[in-house]
Amino acid sequence: MLLPYAPKAILTAIAILLAGASACLAQPKPAPGSEGDTLTVEDKRMAYLVYKLLGKDGIIKNADLKNGAKQFYQNCRACHGDDGRRTNFNPGGIPEYIGIRARNDMPTFWYQMNFGDEERGMEAYINEIDLDDMRDIAGYAQTLP
Ligand code: HEC
Repeated sequence: MLLPYAPKAILTAIAILLAGASACLAQPKPAPGSEGDTLTVEDKRMAYLVYKLLGKDGIIKNADLKNGAKQFYQNCRACHGDDGRRTNFNPGGIPEYIGIRARNDMPTFWYQMNFGDEERGMEAYINEIDLDDMRDIAGYAQTLP
């Protein structure tokens, strides 16, 4: 007879789950890079944007726009054009260039700049451009048309 034991088994399972959950809650946060730290590179980059770089208005804080312009020229201009208008991201509709994308949806911009988009032919820059320069590019891109 399985049935009479089933409720007990369920209760035991719940008790184990609760014990596990409270043990987790009691543990300190895993140190960055330690075994317990299971955030992916993508998670960390996106969290950095949200916690450290983005203001409430969606604009990048503390960007060095002069350096951003220089970095954009060096790294992005070849494909996106001097002011980002070589690529229209909304063909067939009201044109949308990199500037408006950067202002309206920085998380997507940031993701694309870091991790690229193989299908669309956008490269990943996470290993090419350092973090502060990326911040400056992102801030500068928000000033483009
Ligand atoms: C070798 C060419 C090339 C270079 C260099 C390049 N991109 Fe791109 N990028 C692309 C292509 C192609 C796309 C996809 C275009 C499309 O979908 O029509 C793209 C898309 C993007 C998008 C996605 C925008 C959106 O809202 O969908 C962002 C953001 C972006 N690039 C940022 C950058 C930045 C910042 C740099 C410089 C660090 C850069 N790109 C350098 C080719 C390039």
